[in-house]
Amino acid sequence: MRLKTRATEILGIEYPIVQAPMAGGITTPQLVSAVSNAGALGSLGAAYLSPEKIEQSVTEIRKLTDKPFAVNLFIPTNFEESPEKVRRANESMRPYRNELGIETPGQPSFYAPPFEEQLKAVMAARVPVFSFTFGALRAELTGRLRENGTKVVGTATTVREGLKLEEAGVDLVVGQGVEAGGHRGTFLGGFGDAMVGTMALTPQLADALSIPVIASGGIADGRGLVAALALGAEAVQVGTAFLTCEESGAHPAYKEAVLGASEDDTVITRAFSGRPARGIKNRFLLEMSEHEEDLPPYPIHNAWTKDIRDAAREQGRPEFLSLWAGQAARLAHPVPAAELVEGIMSQTRTILRDEEKH
Ligand SMILES: Cc1cc2nc3c(=O)[nH]c(=O)nc-3n(C[C@H](O)[C@H](O)[C@H](O)COP(=O)(O)O)c2cc1C
Repeated sequence: MRLKTRATEILGIEYPIVQAPMAGGITTPQLVSAVSNAGALGSLGAAYLSPEKIEQSVTEIRKLTDKPFAVNLFIPTNFEESPEKVRRANESMRPYRNELGIETPGQPSFYAPPFEEQLKAVMAARVPVFSFTFGALRAELTGRLRENGTKVVGTATTVREGLKLEEAGVDLVVGQGVEAGGHRGTFLGGFGDAMVGTMALTPQLADALSIPVIASGGIADGRGLVAALALGAEAVQVGTAFLTCEESGAHPAYKEAVLGASEDDTVITRAFSGRPARGIKNRFLLEMSEHEEDLPPYPIHNAWTKDIRDAAREQGRPEFLSLWAGQAARLAHPVPAAELVEGIMSQTRTILRDEEKH
């Protein structure tokens, strides 16, 4: 089994491992650079960052590493405004705001940072790799990034989405299985129809696409990497296992929740953001699931829950935090990121050496 693949070659990395972008302050420049310096690809989850903050973070990453790294954004989605839905959601959230000692805020000035401006900042910074999720970047923009020397990576949860991304000219496709922590990347058809496991999705994507596939969802160690490569992937994208690393910016209470979580502690929910995402069950998520069908869509609901999540972070109240994590949470450990990368690779080599003996 080859550990040097088309993916490692295109991305310019030593090992076939990508640290998943994780928006919301988790993927600090320290984490991204530690991963890249260790021979894998660090990724900055920049979806919630202003264009100025993206520029600053990239500058900081470049001070800490001269290796390739990725910056990741969310492709904007269409949504309908419904003041009545917002009113009802805020009514349901009133008890939590009372508990946290905060008032229902006024209308947010924006639901999500302006994508076109964010992308301009990414282009101006001429980052080595740009990855995205929630949609397909227009072929013209993909072409401009590639002309700029940036490798482009899209996210698919079905073969149909993978083909669409390939058609739009990306260099690689992340196949996101249903085990994955965080938001579902689904953009064609219903979310419910795209709940495909990594084991089933990876070989079908690899068969259908001519560009390399990066397997993602439930992979956290050398066993997962070997399995993904055997299924036809040419690299893996690992999220949850990097979330608990020392350099990760996740709140200590969040890390503790992930380190204490079992394989059956996560669920896919719209409670926090209005878009289906996998996270650890907690009080907010369970109680709000009652209103799940009636919540406003992403990014509206995400903007309206921000004050609750911010206050919960400040007050150390994990029962009100979005604890995004995947089904392989038991495989996460509180280690430095370089140790995680080296651990995955040494376990991989041991498995492959044992194979050769037989
Ligand atoms: C906390 C968290 C935040 C995430 N944020 C993003 C993001 O900003 N962009 C993205 O493309 N994927 C995001 N993901 C999904 C990951 O790219 C990846 O699909 C997932 O982490 C893989 O599954 P695993 O968590 O089991 O390793 C996030 C995942 C987690 C756990």
